[in-house]
Amino acid sequence: MSQKNLKSADKDVYEILKAEEKKQQEKLSMIPSENFTSKAVREAVGSVFMNKYSEGYPNARYYEGNYHIDKLELLAIERAKKFFKLPKDWEVNVQALSGSPANLSVYIGLLKPGDKIMGMYLPDGGHLSHGWSYNPKSDSAEFVPNVMFYAGGKRKVNVTSKFYEAVQYKTDPKTKLLDYKEIEKIAKKEKPKMIITGGTAYPRDIDYKRMSEIAHSVGAYYLADIAHEAGLIGAGVMNTPVGYADVVTMTTHKTLRCNRGAIILGKADLMKKINRAIFPGLQGGPHNHSIAGIAVGLKEALTPEFKKYAKQVVKNAQVLAKELEQYGFEIITGGTDKHLVLIDLSNKGLFGKKYARALDYAGIIANMNTMPQEKRPPADPSALRVGTPWITTRGMREPEMKQIAKWMNEVMEVVKDWQDMDFTEFNTKVANHKDVKRVAKEVSILCKRYPLGI
Ligand SMILES: Cc1ncc(COP(=O)(O)O)c(C=O)c1O
Repeated sequence: MSQKNLKSADKDVYEILKAEEKKQQEKLSMIPSENFTSKAVREAVGSVFMNKYSEGYPNARYYEGNYHIDKLELLAIERAKKFFKLPKDWEVNVQALSGSPANLSVYIGLLKPGDKIMGMYLPDGGHLSHGWSYNPKSDSAEFVPNVMFYAGGKRKVNVTSKFYEAVQYKTDPKTKLLDYKEIEKIAKKEKPKMIITGGTAYPRDIDYKRMSEIAHSVGAYYLADIAHEAGLIGAGVMNTPVGYADVVTMTTHKTLRCNRGAIILGKADLMKKINRAIFPGLQGGPHNHSIAGIAVGLKEALTPEFKKYAKQVVKNAQVLAKELEQYGFEIITGGTDKHLVLIDLSNKGLFGKKYARALDYAGIIANMNTMPQEKRPPADPSALRVGTPWITTRGMREPEMKQIAKWMNEVMEVVKDWQDMDFTEFNTKVANHKDVKRVAKEVSILCKRYPLGI
């Protein structure tokens, strides 16, 4: 077998890789669910660990030759226990391949098919894997203003709504915040077997103690999905669900700054069932190279530098939100407690799809998003979601956030009257607009000052 490097072995893939590296280096990646991993994490993920099959768990494998893999998996587990300050009777699984399979494994492990689960309404910021379904009257979910409860619909979009009966709680129509009293009322009426918190676009912290009381008062398990906040929670800059939730799931590639993967934490008796749900229930051999990357990323997360980083992530998002507000952007919930800012673009007249595209031409990568009380389809929703994990990893701080808000406003000023324009024409006009080109140039100069260690 050839042992050529990528450049000589496969020019096609090499060139695509180089183009992606250049883009990551020259643009501001501001999608809240993304981050930039260290060289050590990337080295571990690209290592020979990818070659080994190890179905089973440490010291109980189905194949021989797993002595080093056992050591690796146990090390990742030990570090996760330390980072999340787990009580003695909690255990860890690092084998779930990503956030969605991690959630599914928890349902498989603890519920029966058809049991009722209750998570946050997707357009308000929940996640597909918390049981999303809707009635296909239009492209979007039915818009029912001023209600706190959604019973789901006929179109079972996610496997979690196909296999389980999914109902959802919404945020308060005025404040866009979780209303724990309402959630409690719904829980008492619906009597779900599992209540889930967490999501993709809820900018505020969660009262985990209150949620656990609600779940346990109706005999439900409480699953806290901290996919987005994992790094911030472990670093102590946000509330922790550990000690309140029965199970905690997370992705490892967002604020935790590891490679793609997942970690599940939970009470030991429940984790036994969840472990069996992952293997042999749902998966075969674990991705040992991913587990290696997660172990390395957790070591980095246990340092004082990471604590400082996590604090700065939140500070940066708060400064960004404040600055954007001064330019007349409407910030959902008036600010943020974490790494993400959700902007309601209704008052600007140009919505998420076109604004996100215009920003990309200007060197700022963000994403269109639904928002509470959403009336528009998910493919062209009312909001934009921006986040600070990646640009904070680059070393950017408050002054850069102010500059980024200014650029975002300049781009909005260019495009705000173009909502009705055909999308192809919109692309051409934005790409060639002198102010957009100028901002892109200025962004690339800023990015050069904060290079990524590629
Ligand atoms: C709250 C939440 N849960 C689960 C997931 C799913 O993670 P993955 O994309 O790794 O399947 C995400 C991803 O964005 C998420 O935000």
